[in-house]
Amino acid sequence: MSEREQGLGDVQRAHWQQIYGWHPGMYGEEPSDPAIHAAAVFGAAGARKVLELGAGHGRDALYFARQGFSVLATDFSPVGLEQLREAAAAQDVTERVTTAVHDVREPLPLADAAVDAVFAHMLLCMALSTQEIHALAAEVRRVLRPGGVFVYTVRHTGDAHYQAGAGHGDDIWEHGGFAVHFFSRDLVDALAGSWTLVEVAAFEEGGLPRRLWRVTQTVPR
Ligand SMILES: C[S@@+](CC[C@H](N)C(=O)[O-])C[C@H]1O[C@@H](n2cnc3c(N)ncnc32)[C@H](O)[C@@H]1O
Repeated sequence: MSEREQGLGDVQRAHWQQIYGWHPGMYGEEPSDPAIHAAAVFGAAGARKVLELGAGHGRDALYFARQGFSVLATDFSPVGLEQLREAAAAQDVTERVTTAVHDVREPLPLADAAVDAVFAHMLLCMALSTQEIHALAAEVRRVLRPGGVFVYTVRHTGDAHYQAGAGHGDDIWEHGGFAVHFFSRDLVDALAGSWTLVEVAAFEEGGLPRRLWRVTQTVPR
């Protein structure tokens, strides 16, 4: 990781800490549409153990737990994860939810083939370089069992904020304090290289609206 990338990532970590402090539960209590979709896909694949990356305050991790999955929810914001743990207690699902503060620029804190499914909603498109995104996809593949499923979503180059605000290179643009790596379709395809790419579905979220792809790919058996 270059000093410049390290710097942006660390600024973003402080930003997310502040944002979750100012706006507890900012994404609401309802699960996202991609999480509802992913739970159905994970269930059909016989998954039980789910890893969520960039879980924030846990609207989706808690949904997975309510659906009966065992979830490890990670994020680099301890403030978001503290809100997640409080909500897990209120919803009586603490037995099925574990949290870990983790920066995805580092290797995942799990053994090989430790989980059945991985979910990441708007995490791969954070302030990560293309190299870091490839390294993360390799880590996700390492911790998934053969046949395991990875569902992730990313904002893409058709989003209204693409090329708006301050450019950091490598298709990373910062707008209103949030740095986003806008994905090209080439990047999605490159990440799926040694996986089975099942689906790339376009959808929108929020008032802007954010324009995203929901990508489903599996580890060949
Ligand atoms: C756009 S938010 C989405 C949160 C959650 N997935 C949701 O949809 O409710 C992105 C999340 O990724 C986390 N994040 C950003 N960069 C990260 C990194 N390098 N490592 C771990 N988490 C990161 C942020 O703290 C934030 O919670």
